[in-house]
Amino acid sequence: MGIENICCRTLVGTLAVLLATPPIAGANAPQTVQLGILTPPAGTAPRINGARVFGVRPGHPILWRLPVTGKRPMRLAAEGLPPGATFDSTSGVLGGAVSKRGTYPIVFTAENGEGHAKRVLKLVVGEKIALTPPMGWNSWNRFNFKVTQKDIKAAADAMVSSGLADHGWTYVNIDDFWQNNPYRFKDDPTLQGAERKPDGTINPNARFPDMKGLAGYIHAKGLKAGLYSSPGPYTCGMCTGSWGHEWQDARTWAEWGYDYVKYDHCTYGKKGFRKGMFSHKGVGAGLDGATLPYRLMGEALRAQKRDIVFSLCQYGMHNVSTWGANVGGNCWRTAGDIKDSFAKMIGNLDRQAGLWPYAGPGAWNDPDMLVVGILGIPSKGVGMTEPHPCTLTRNEQYTHISMWSILCAPLLIGCDLAKLDDFTLALLTNDEVLETNQDELGAQAALVAKGPRAQVWAKPMHDGSLVFALFNTHEETTRICIDYDSLGLEGKWLVRDLWRQKDEGIFGIRYSVEVPGHATHLVRLFPKDDARLAEGVADIRMNSVYIQFEERRPVGKPGRKAPKSYPCERCDK
Ligand code: GAL
Repeated sequence: MGIENICCRTLVGTLAVLLATPPIAGANAPQTVQLGILTPPAGTAPRINGARVFGVRPGHPILWRLPVTGKRPMRLAAEGLPPGATFDSTSGVLGGAVSKRGTYPIVFTAENGEGHAKRVLKLVVGEKIALTPPMGWNSWNRFNFKVTQKDIKAAADAMVSSGLADHGWTYVNIDDFWQNNPYRFKDDPTLQGAERKPDGTINPNARFPDMKGLAGYIHAKGLKAGLYSSPGPYTCGMCTGSWGHEWQDARTWAEWGYDYVKYDHCTYGKKGFRKGMFSHKGVGAGLDGATLPYRLMGEALRAQKRDIVFSLCQYGMHNVSTWGANVGGNCWRTAGDIKDSFAKMIGNLDRQAGLWPYAGPGAWNDPDMLVVGILGIPSKGVGMTEPHPCTLTRNEQYTHISMWSILCAPLLIGCDLAKLDDFTLALLTNDEVLETNQDELGAQAALVAKGPRAQVWAKPMHDGSLVFALFNTHEETTRICIDYDSLGLEGKWLVRDLWRQKDEGIFGIRYSVEVPGHATHLVRLFPKDDARLAEGVADIRMNSVYIQFEERRPVGKPGRKAPKSYPCERCDK
């Protein structure tokens, strides 16, 4: 086996590097194993999963479904509900509305013939929402421009029937193409019709005859509903956008009952429109112009009487991480569209390295959606394909889910939920891995060591434990090490393998493991004897060696090129 010894050691100052030695002679082709299913099956006894904290604004409707695995029937109960909150013990849904600000610990219990589980949820009634990264599904990477209401309902059904909802998966989000599309898909009658009603209210297309009913359908399952728009007159797929109707659209979406809005950038920057828009809004170009549409929609959404997660989708332009939260954003894309190719996935990952200072409860960097399972996008280029299984290797999928989890990225599954295979389902239902994403501290991982064949990322958890991801960037199996001295750790730590949910033992000085090619080994270190961070290391991430923070431009996106017949009746006039 071509195994490399790669280990961290101290260099000048706080720099920690990974050293690589040449491969053992005789290794010709890349040699490695592909990992199989690692997640242990959920037991029959009850286990309460998901976030331990949930934010809601005063007086706004609460919708939170208790994520619990185990054999049904199960007796569910809640204690300590604040005035106004309700709990339906049959559906397991926390509802109602609480007008008084504060933090309310609610004790949930779940019981069946096999056992008993208890978990405290902190209900935080205040200004902030999305206290942990949103977890759910989005239609784009599977259904693309062909999405219908039926697909969305099927996704909601499958989120419950597959068991995903019992692990905390919540949002069912419609991406582009719920609106009409007058110019790009002229031949598709299901996309034709008036863009708006005479009073300006946006019209959904014929494939989405009942947007309000659809949100109700999703809510009835204890799940939440999302939709998509763009600040230009048209979206990236050239469907009707929100330009000039921002407040009206926000009101419509709230009235329909939507809980999540993904707001793109397309056509906002088109020269013809830009001139008109800027003079219309009375602002100049540059940062003002870049932040304007998000400020506007952020205010409009915040004014509604329901909580709406606001997701910015402008690919990281103008250093969005530094201002996304200030315009009311709960998450913001930091890169172009992801594809199921290793290079693309890693490209999006690389951009996160320096962004951890900007993430925290209510505000998340978003390296784009999860490309696992049956997808409908090409792994290169643009457009839509016939449904095909993800082309990332199994090892690469472990890296994808491990990294997106510890980055505290919004986790939005992009595949066909009705056709989940066992491997994909196991990838998406490992509660110990998901816990690194949903931890109440909300700390995004930083890249703390990097070498030619490996990267080590690390993040703190609210209980004082630390999570490390040992990512083998090479095709061959590689030994990767957490060197305590160079990373600022002292004493002994209990190392737990999160994918296998197994303790590996207590380690001092260093921990090392062989990681298959392109895979990631995810461990959580719990403090044992004399365990602590070294003097001067306030946060494991302060030791990070790799701060990358530069402005990024969008890469090729579907629908960016306007057709020749690009409508100009709404250009600068
Ligand atoms: C892209 C966006 C995709 C998808 C698409 C819809 O700009 O990055 O995630 O929303 O637009 O047209």
